[in-house]
Amino acid sequence: MTPADQSRQALEICRRAAVVPVLVIEDLAHARPLAEALVAGGLPALEVTLRTPVALDAIRIMAEVEGGIVGAGTLLTPADVAAARAAGARFGVSPGASDRLLDACEAEGLPLLPGAATATEVMALLERGYTMQKFFPAETSGGAPAVKALGGPLPQVTFCPTGGIGLGNAATYLGLANVVCVGGSWVAPKAMMEAGDWAGITRLAQEAAALR
Ligand code: 3PG
Repeated sequence: MTPADQSRQALEICRRAAVVPVLVIEDLAHARPLAEALVAGGLPALEVTLRTPVALDAIRIMAEVEGGIVGAGTLLTPADVAAARAAGARFGVSPGASDRLLDACEAEGLPLLPGAATATEVMALLERGYTMQKFFPAETSGGAPAVKALGGPLPQVTFCPTGGIGLGNAATYLGLANVVCVGGSWVAPKAMMEAGDWAGITRLAQEAAALR
């Protein structure tokens, strides 16, 4: 799959909702109800970060939830890409980009949302065909004004800003012409998952989905 094809697929996934939940799953028993709660609230594209021992099994379980599109986040190595693919991830997200990681995603045919935070990083990805990118870490890299400024010389690139975004500042990003969606963990708070407050998470998802 060419990077341009991949990027088009990543764009389609990002267009599904205003927010891509960034999920850190510690307890495998949370996987199914969490996915169901977020999808029910109107957030179908879910990023499961590969930061916990159960993440790959969580992807396997969540991939079966109707209406969901489950991806793997925190992809760092070719081994991560292969494992994510094998678990059923339909897209990948990475905090930055390396040639080895991009090669692996292209070889595996895994649509990737690669991270970039500067004009040089955005240009390197664009040169390779990636027109849909993750702006990360968003708030500490200049926030919405930085994304807007990148849109001057680089209007052909669209972004999913992620990092430090919540209900209070998401709309500012979503109002920019070059922002398709934002990523964030605020829709799946650890305490609500531990309490099994799935209805509460659905309400957070509804609130987030209504941002656009
Ligand atoms: C992450 O990698 O954890 C994401 O950037 C999520 O950031 P957030 O917790 O600030 O939403």
